[in-house]
Amino acid sequence: MGKIKKIGVLTSGGDSPGMNAAIRAVVKTGLYHKIEVAGIYRGYNGMISGMIKPLDKLGVENIISLGGTILKSARSEEFRTEEGRRKARENLKKHEIDALVLIGGDGTFAGGKIFMEEFDFPVTGMPGTVDNDLYGTDYTIGYDTAVNTVVWAVDRLRDTAHSHDRLFIVEVMGRDAGFIALRSGIASGAKKILIPETKTHIEELLDRLEKRFSEEESSAIIIVSEGDDFGGAMEVKKIVNERFPDYGTRVTILGHIQRGGSPTAYDRILASGLGYQAVLRLLDGKRGEMVGSVNREIVFTPFEKTIKHHDKINVELKKIAEILAL
Ligand code: F6P
Repeated sequence: MGKIKKIGVLTSGGDSPGMNAAIRAVVKTGLYHKIEVAGIYRGYNGMISGMIKPLDKLGVENIISLGGTILKSARSEEFRTEEGRRKARENLKKHEIDALVLIGGDGTFAGGKIFMEEFDFPVTGMPGTVDNDLYGTDYTIGYDTAVNTVVWAVDRLRDTAHSHDRLFIVEVMGRDAGFIALRSGIASGAKKILIPETKTHIEELLDRLEKRFSEEESSAIIIVSEGDDFGGAMEVKKIVNERFPDYGTRVTILGHIQRGGSPTAYDRILASGLGYQAVLRLLDGKRGEMVGSVNREIVFTPFEKTIKHHDKINVELKKIAEILAL
């Protein structure tokens, strides 16, 4: 493989705030190094269909503060097939793209790894998902914004919970991971945080509520990760209602509002730094890694590891959450 002259960048999987800041960083770093950058639209689907356009300085102006992704995103079934990937390779040739930066989650990197190996093609990755479930980085791009969005919402629910002596069960995102729930739960003073990584003992929750009510504490917030083994906020509400039929219990499912909105300063800075490093790394001849940040240091983790390993929940944080909820 010769010298890299043109990089393609795409966003894939669930969108996350800060993806635009990441795209901007890739374009600007590329231009600084006299490398052209092309935007590939709708993730791998755009590689297959040829939805590829040049990105220049003007194209990324004013996007640092925008949520979503200007390149749009998708989960591609066709890229899982050899035929789909062959078409994608042809399109990259047509557009003279000789390296790729992927912004997405483990599914994105799994596809990138196969493509890289099949066609001996330089690919690097950046972690973009609100779930923060990627091994090889303390924070994924979008996670901090999502946590702040949850806290913003719960603060408002707390006002109503307090005024009406109610219990609010708030369901947050995290199909397989409790990172959003744990951090937002601590920041919003939740009485209980239910996450997929630990078994939910519902009796314990009910006993705790009983104790609270007898102590004349009349309102409470419970945060439930959507992937919790007990089955989400509606299931928890059913059980709570059975035990405390006279108590006002409400459910709020925050859903996709957690994926939108202007990124926090933290996410913008993270995305800018990782985007910059991703380009440098490709120019340095490295491939097949995700650029992440661990203990404030830039680290490079092979795709294989980011795909196979799940990031672990911080047990210390879990303990803090339990104690401060007493
Ligand atoms: O981006 C990750 C995630 O937000 C999960 O927490 C959630 O379950 C899923 O995406 C839902 O995404 P979609 O509606 O796009 O399938």
